[in-house]
Amino acid sequence: MKATKKMGFAVAASLMMLFSAACGGNTTNTPAPEQGAGEKPAAAAPAPASKDKKITLGFSQVGAESGWRTANTKSIQDSAKEAGFELKFSDAQQKQENQIKAIRSFIQQKVDVIAFSPVVESGWDTVLKEAKDAKIPVILTDRAVDSKDTSLYVTFIGSDFVEEGRRAGKWLVEKFKDEKGDVNIVELQGTTGSAPANDRKAGFDEMIKAQPNLKVIASQTGDFTRAKGKEVMQAFLKAHKDIDVLYAHNDDMALGAIQAIEAAGLKPGQDIIIISVDGVKDGMTAAAEGKINFIVECNPLLGPQLMEAVKNVVEGKQVDKRIVTKEGTFTSEEAKKALPSRQY
Ligand code: AHR
Repeated sequence: MKATKKMGFAVAASLMMLFSAACGGNTTNTPAPEQGAGEKPAAAAPAPASKDKKITLGFSQVGAESGWRTANTKSIQDSAKEAGFELKFSDAQQKQENQIKAIRSFIQQKVDVIAFSPVVESGWDTVLKEAKDAKIPVILTDRAVDSKDTSLYVTFIGSDFVEEGRRAGKWLVEKFKDEKGDVNIVELQGTTGSAPANDRKAGFDEMIKAQPNLKVIASQTGDFTRAKGKEVMQAFLKAHKDIDVLYAHNDDMALGAIQAIEAAGLKPGQDIIIISVDGVKDGMTAAAEGKINFIVECNPLLGPQLMEAVKNVVEGKQVDKRIVTKEGTFTSEEAKKALPSRQY
């Protein structure tokens, strides 16, 4: 063929007083600050406890690169509103420098808690240390950082991306278990250096190595976007005439790739087997139509868990160091059934 480690975060209820003066609305869209934001902020002074003050949460989002991200942003904004928190929201447009600027701006504004979804894994220690020195607790959502010093953040809420990659690989191994010839796989990776790209690759590779005829013949980043997924798939199709499988690290790249596959006169899901990650509506629709064969779910609705953690941290309660999101998988048939009640 072709640990859960409990950590008592010593944040006194006094942090509730450290909120910004602008408490008019629930959400403040804080653009990534332009200049002067690189200066080290002064440490936040402790304030007396008060239960009546609104909690201020500074949140730095990766960007708006995918359907998953749009659903994640909505979940965070809606949940903050529901919880009655003041949300200072900043869109980093997939740039780490913008996230660092936003975090420094949140420190200067003396928010109660900072949360962010780090665009890449490395390079956070300095700014996280600044938040720690300012006594502002940091919560990671969706993506992890590779900092050795885990005291730099309170908790990490999100998926197990390695496990997602394993699930994708396991399904493929099972699908081709009787195949004797080479199975040529192309891979569309997520944003270079991001936790989901690193981990989904690692988990997938770990599973398929058990079957040596499953061969990754090309692997390139599509930056988690539809446009890039299409562009890179076009290049893959030009360079390789014998592609059997596409493994895309998210639905958006798979959807872009489907356009390229169809434009090349091939049938996605039949001529090329497609596996992707996320399970957003457009991806599930493609799966229900048989164009994507298998989707590993990655749940973007992290807002309620985040607000719960923020509340607990501000109240000085214990928070699990790692909060893993529960997720499933979908074949085409399962996607068809799940689609009508899909929230995002
Ligand atoms: O970090 C989660 C990943 O980021 C999602 O799988 C992807 O769609 C998003 O852009």
